[in-house]
Amino acid sequence: MTEVRIVPSILSADFARLADEVARVVDGGADWMHVDVMDGHFVPNITYGAKVIETMRRVTTLPLDVHLMVERPEDYFESFAGAGASTLTIHTEVSPHLQRQLCRIKELGCLAGAAINPSTPLGAVSEVAGDLDLLLVMTVNPGFGGQSFIEHSVDKVRRARALLDASGSRALLEVDGGIGRDTIQRVWRAGADTFVAGHAVFGARDPGAEIDALRKLCMETA
Ligand code: DX5
Ligand code: ZN
Repeated sequence: MTEVRIVPSILSADFARLADEVARVVDGGADWMHVDVMDGHFVPNITYGAKVIETMRRVTTLPLDVHLMVERPEDYFESFAGAGASTLTIHTEVSPHLQRQLCRIKELGCLAGAAINPSTPLGAVSEVAGDLDLLLVMTVNPGFGGQSFIEHSVDKVRRARALLDASGSRALLEVDGGIGRDTIQRVWRAGADTFVAGHAVFGARDPGAEIDALRKLCMETA
């Protein structure tokens, strides 16, 4: 049976208590931790970089799933890998040499991911399916936490699943944006296996119970 990965995004955590917030979701059963890097150019918001990845590496042994919403992502591969990133996911919209960039990420010992915005067709990754460790289908326009899930994404995830299966790729299929109790079952049934959740987890009174609930919603329709 396909494994379900619940991946809390620290974008919605209380940064004054970051270590405690992380410990709470790690104890609550998180599978990976998601770190959203934004540069104020590719997306209209600025967040954090190597320093926070390094801090996360000190406070948890879980894999760090680093989502680069930045222009020229290759400028950061070495420092982020050195800081302890496990997965580096770059956006196709700013990666004209995607195949080379994915290979470079793997050379640095990380899993290589490619992300596509809601308006980006799946064709942007069809020729590199064999090079992917992870495909991230954005289910909101990136830049902010707590946005509403874009319904059209369900069909896109279904087509992404078909694309990966048809090409024999074993890449994980991740979704990010607006994932919560109301949406997770639909994307799971469509073929996603890795679920980023920011507001749903960190906004919950009991993040561990929320992680359990999200996982159960998938398992009950497995
Ligand atoms: C959005 C980020 C997401 C964000 C998701 O640009 O890539 O990872 O943290 O937040 P929620 O789950 O609150 O939509
Ligand atoms: Zn993200």
